[in-house]
Amino acid sequence: MITVNKELCRGCLACVRVCPFTVLQAEGKMPELKEGKVCLKCMHCAAACPASAISFGDREAVLDQELPRLSEGFKEELEHHIMTRRSYRHFKETPVSREEIQHALELASWAPSAKNQHPAKWMVVDSKDTIEAMMQAILEYVKETGTSPEIASEYEEEGNNVVMGTAPILILCYARNNAINSPQDVAIAMSTAELLLQARGIGTCWAGYLTRLCNAVPKLQELLPELPENNSFYGAFMAGYPEGETYLHIPQRLKRADIQWV
Ligand SMILES: Cc1cc2nc3c(=O)[nH]c(=O)nc-3n(C[C@H](O)[C@H](O)[C@H](O)COP(=O)(O)O)c2cc1C
Repeated sequence: MITVNKELCRGCLACVRVCPFTVLQAEGKMPELKEGKVCLKCMHCAAACPASAISFGDREAVLDQELPRLSEGFKEELEHHIMTRRSYRHFKETPVSREEIQHALELASWAPSAKNQHPAKWMVVDSKDTIEAMMQAILEYVKETGTSPEIASEYEEEGNNVVMGTAPILILCYARNNAINSPQDVAIAMSTAELLLQARGIGTCWAGYLTRLCNAVPKLQELLPELPENNSFYGAFMAGYPEGETYLHIPQRLKRADIQWV
């Protein structure tokens, strides 16, 4: 629970102005916690407080680090990074350190989520044997059930794996089904993670087939740790260091933003 240290508080009421659900309200010149209101624990109040007067129970509500200044060229570099992000499907066998992946996934926690619920959880598969067994289970399933026949035909006739490319790592993202906005929250966390991973030279490709199959194929579920009850996979990435995929140009986007100003 948020607490305001009245001895440190300067009464600027910045915390009151940024609180999204009026949990903090002004009593005269001081902020007061309003009884019966639900705090999102977004820590906006603490992030805006110039006196560091707000804490969260016995924990600090903000990180003990300087607010970084954006560098001169940041705006252009960010735009460039967004336009040069690509879907990579061909990877080196060279392993990516778990720390690198973990760092990106942890930073993705700063992505927004509905009511600050952050339902997205990660399962990272970096065992070659498990990945191969998963692909075999998928091939058996799609042939048996006639699901997405292009998966088997591309794999067997063209040597093209549309489910996982040649990825040495699969990053699966699951969430509870009863969060307010699990599909969107997962997509936002994953998009954030993708930009972070690609900034570190780690190639990724969203794996929509794999996501659907992880929820549908019983044998895949046996190969992976069991999900908590009422949880589902909402997204997945192929990941690894790209091999033989070098992009020299920014591709044209045939469909651009369709915007109506009202
Ligand atoms: C939700 C989602 C699911 C996708 N699933 C697959 C997939 O299963 N296999 C695949 O090869 N690419 C998949 N992609 C990648 C798209 O084909 C790719 O984003 C698109 O062709 C544009 O290329 P770019 O990401 O390099 O700009 C998926 C992308 C998204 C956003």
